[in-house]
Amino acid sequence: MRMYDIIQRKKRGNALTDGEIQFVVQGVTDGSVPDYQIAALLMAITLKGMTAQETTALTLAMAKSGDMLDLSPLDGIKVDKHSTGGVGDKTTLIVAPMVAAMGVTVAKMSGRSLGHTGGTVDKLEGIPGFETSLSMENFFATVRKCGICIAGQSMSLAPADKKIYALRDVTATVDSIPLIAASIMSKKIAAGADRILLDVKTGNGAFMKSPEDARELAQAMVEIGNTAGRKTAALITDMSVPLGFAVGNNLEIIESIEVLKGGGPADLRHVCIELAAYMMHLADKGELPHCRALAEEAITGGKALETFAQVVEAQNGDRAFIDDPARFPAAAVKREVTAVTDGYIREMDTEGIGVAALLLGAGRETAADTIDHSAGLILHAKVGDRVEKGQPLVTLHTASEEKANIAAEKYLSCLSFSDNKTEKSPLIHAEVR
Ligand code: URA
Repeated sequence: MRMYDIIQRKKRGNALTDGEIQFVVQGVTDGSVPDYQIAALLMAITLKGMTAQETTALTLAMAKSGDMLDLSPLDGIKVDKHSTGGVGDKTTLIVAPMVAAMGVTVAKMSGRSLGHTGGTVDKLEGIPGFETSLSMENFFATVRKCGICIAGQSMSLAPADKKIYALRDVTATVDSIPLIAASIMSKKIAAGADRILLDVKTGNGAFMKSPEDARELAQAMVEIGNTAGRKTAALITDMSVPLGFAVGNNLEIIESIEVLKGGGPADLRHVCIELAAYMMHLADKGELPHCRALAEEAITGGKALETFAQVVEAQNGDRAFIDDPARFPAAAVKREVTAVTDGYIREMDTEGIGVAALLLGAGRETAADTIDHSAGLILHAKVGDRVEKGQPLVTLHTASEEKANIAAEKYLSCLSFSDNKTEKSPLIHAEVR
């Protein structure tokens, strides 16, 4: 088999065989195929697409390119959740302890922040002592003790995806639905869960800007998961405004604790109840209305908050910060940005707001950047809200006046106003099963 012929066949729009795809992924993994040929094939795939069969073959080959976690020694049905990423998306911090509190096993690997989107592992590392780099023994022991563990993604999971993703990033081939679907699902399948819930975000703060593209991606991933024997479902949820009010690591942990205590922003709470209900439904806990009631009960009965505190403690974090979130260190500078005009907020550039948080120090532009855990922003008004001139729009939290100046300008450029009230987008756009 020759890489040249495989590129040629894909360039002409042919479907590749399972054998050809395995040959490519093997060559990516062992370094025998040069980057320029991999890049050429990625561009041909981006332009010509892939069938469902090809996408599944690519996913499975990438999943098998490294360690495949075997979670079978752990009791119960193991359910994983994956979000395609957004701004203020702290749902894993809330939903994972909710479902674990109701008896669903969550043995989870999560990612870090990159660009305008946040990452669960970075948020958790803001809790003093919290460890995300765990041995397998420790990971299993924590799940057995608390019903949940959230670790950082192991480097040996789907190494072919890492290589391919790095090449996609520099060859304008990130935005191919089959390549995104295979990339995400290869890591989910290698991570070993029996059931997978996907939270596919749509809107101007998401990877998939349009609901149609989000649906296509969700359908591709659900099909791959089910074909691989991992029962999979997806919710398409809104990212045309940040989720909740807090954006930034410690600020998001504090907001998550508010939701776990039964308060917090209504939009965040609603999305978390739905995600938790779908995860419990996937874990055979009953029909959706029953699972929604279980999700509510996890919060109102205080079980989810206690489970979160327990897993923090089990992963060496200081539980006192969960019991009393006022302990999280405050940023040196807090700057209120006010409205310069009266009106209704018509639209928010959500990706731009994620960039404003990054400028404040909450994120990283490259994988090597460090994070300021205290940095971020708290929104005071969102799409559809009426504001008067001089009313606070947002409070910026950061380390210096200079960063606050730059982020304030960026934040204001992300808002547009209107004299008439704008309809908010639905929080849940669709389900795909
Ligand atoms: N996240 C991934 O892990 N892979 C992609 O291709 C896109 C988002």
